[in-house]
Formats: sequence, C-alpha cells, structure tokens
Amino acid sequence: MRKKLLLGAVVLAVGVIAGCGQKQETTTKATPLWDRNCAHCHNGNMAVTKDTILAKHKDKEQFLNAVKEFVSAGRMPPNLPYGQVADELYK
Ligand code: HEC
Repeated sequence: MRKKLLLGAVVLAVGVIAGCGQKQETTTKATPLWDRNCAHCHNGNMAVTKDTILAKHKDKEQFLNAVKEFVSAGRMPPNLPYGQVADELYK
C-alpha cells in the first residue's frame, strides 16, 4: 500500500517536472494554423511532417529561412501565414 502511494507520488512529480517549460512540448501542442494551412502537404508523404521540421529547425529564424528558400524555389505557395505559423510552433 505504502509502496504504491510512493510510486504514485514519483510518477506525479516526474509528470509535473516534464510538463514545465519544455520545448519539445511543441510537437504535442495544438497547432490549428499549421493544421489548416500546412498539414495537407506536410503529411510525411508530399512534404516532411511538423515533427521533422521541429527537430531540424531549432528556432523561428531557422524555420523561416527554410520557408523562404522553398518558397523562392517555387516548391511552396508564397501567400501562406508563415510568420503566424512560426509563432504558433516556436512559442
Ligand atoms: C503545396 C504544398 C505545401 C504547403 C501548403 C506547405 N508546404 Fe512547406 N514544403 C512543401 C514542400 C514540397 C517542401 C520541400 C520538401 C520537403 O521539405 O519535404 C516544403 C518545405 C518546407 C519547409 C522546409 C523543410 C526542411 O526540410 O527544411 C518548411 C519549414 C515548411 N515547408 C513550412 C511550411 C509551413 C509553415 C506551411 C504552412 C504555412 C507550409 N510549409 C505549407 C510543400 C508545402
């Protein structure tokens, strides 16, 4: 009985610590703008997934540089809210 309680407390503590201000959270967080504007291409088939992009580009600047590159190469539409999606993904 006591052992179980202790285990519960440990699990809870780890959960709280893990949930605090972690960057990796971005992958599990709701990203409605991304879902609406980007996910239909970035499905791991036509283009890389959100998780791959987040793993590759560590901050907003890197992310937006990559966006610029692909937009000017004509591989992505120019008229999407990239800045807003960057804010959403790299909060
Ligand atoms: C018409 C399809 C399409 C849409 C819509 C689209 N993308 Fe892309 N995107 C691509 C393709 C194709 C590539 C290049 C191939 C790849 O990286 O898989 C790419 C590449 C990227 C890259 C660079 C990936 C890398 O490997 O460095 C980023 C970042 C990116 N897109 C972000 C976005 C964001 C943010 C949105 C939504 C606002 C979006 N894309 C919408 C097709 C699309």
